[in-house]
Amino acid sequence: MKIALITGISGQDGSYLAELLLEKNYKIYGIVRRNSFLFNSARLEHIRDHLNLLYGDMTDCAGLSNTIHKIINENSNFSIFEIYNLAAQSHVQVSFEIPKYTTEVDGLGVCNLLEAIRVLPKYTTDKIRIYQAGTSEMYGHVLETPQTETTPFNPCSPYAAAKVYAYNMMKIYREGYGLFASNGILFNHESPRRGAHFVTQKIIKGVLDINYGKNKDGFIRLGNLYSKRDWGHTKDYVYGMWLILQHDKPDDFVLATGETHTVKSFVEKAFLFKGLLIHWVGEGINEKGIDQDGKTRIVIDPKYYRPCEVELLLGNPSKATRILNWNRKFKTLNNLIKDMFSGK
Ligand code: NAP
Ligand code: GDD
Repeated sequence: MKIALITGISGQDGSYLAELLLEKNYKIYGIVRRNSFLFNSARLEHIRDHLNLLYGDMTDCAGLSNTIHKIINENSNFSIFEIYNLAAQSHVQVSFEIPKYTTEVDGLGVCNLLEAIRVLPKYTTDKIRIYQAGTSEMYGHVLETPQTETTPFNPCSPYAAAKVYAYNMMKIYREGYGLFASNGILFNHESPRRGAHFVTQKIIKGVLDINYGKNKDGFIRLGNLYSKRDWGHTKDYVYGMWLILQHDKPDDFVLATGETHTVKSFVEKAFLFKGLLIHWVGEGINEKGIDQDGKTRIVIDPKYYRPCEVELLLGNPSKATRILNWNRKFKTLNNLIKDMFSGK
């Protein structure tokens, strides 16, 4: 019997990964944070009855340890126990506002998890595999393009610094204690379930609101239009996470599309889906996106600028393609945008 624990199960990636593992007949546990209503269940409603959800928090080491013990005790005949650590304060700009909290969850949270596993008997740890949600943000001010598994990290946000710590802890516990601990280094991935404050979803929802006359201003406020991102579809990336844990040994893998686009280009493509052709006037904070009828559709709001910006992300996924046979179903940025508009 295969069992899995997903931290961050209520997030974008967690919900798609849970769907994938259900299809593969895993018994799935998930850690959710209590909130004043119940927990953040919006992305899980359709599969809620098939999941075993437990309250927990990455900052609570005793709680994590108890959860892992409980799962092992409930499933004494398990063959493989896969742990996907997806929980994080995942917004880069927000990490500048709450750097210590971000470090505690995204960095020290991984130490808490690894320690909870390390102290288990060897016959148990031999059946545990851990995936850590590493990120292309770790490359920061990039030192090489395209970025691969050997490109040095050069983080430029509290979020990325915490993720580099977590990445290194995974390697240390792999090498030092022989744990099956693998890092994914995932480039940006999006979907209809993407959080509303990430740029792709903000643009898609902004275009839809304009299209349905729900945006009184008629325009979207954005920050840096010139950063470049390697955007893929989340469904392809959670499949990659699963493949990483099916490999015969623990290792680190880049998952990316191998294409990069500016935020500006994403804006143009998204508006074009709804028949609006955007051209640009002005410079710097006065730059504007205007449609074919002369209506302003994009304005710059410096509040969305970051203290440090990752200007260029472009990943080379050839190691994952070659070793894991990872292939993407969503081949183009337009496929992704179309699916995000579908809202499903
Ligand atoms: P997301 O939608 O923001 O989901 C984050 C999840 O973490 C949510 O379930 C959230 O719970 C949970 N969480 C936050 N703080 C927690 C805490 N203290 N204890 C326990 N759970 C906590 O992020 P995502 O896009 O799915 O990303 C999943 C993981 O991949 C994250 O670690 C992210 O940093 C990493 N990553 C993402 C991308 C990407 O492009 N999406 C790329 C590379 C790496 P609530 O629902 O209660 O908030
Ligand atoms: N969020 C946001 N909002 N970003 C904006 C805006 C805006 O109004 N305007 C421009 N941007 C720019 C950001 O400055 C950044 O260069 C780019 O759009 C993408 O921003 P996000 O969508 O917030 O994503 P991110 O690249 O910072 O981080 C995401 O991808 C990482 C992987 O590279 C998150 O999912 C991270 O958790 C993940 O690790």
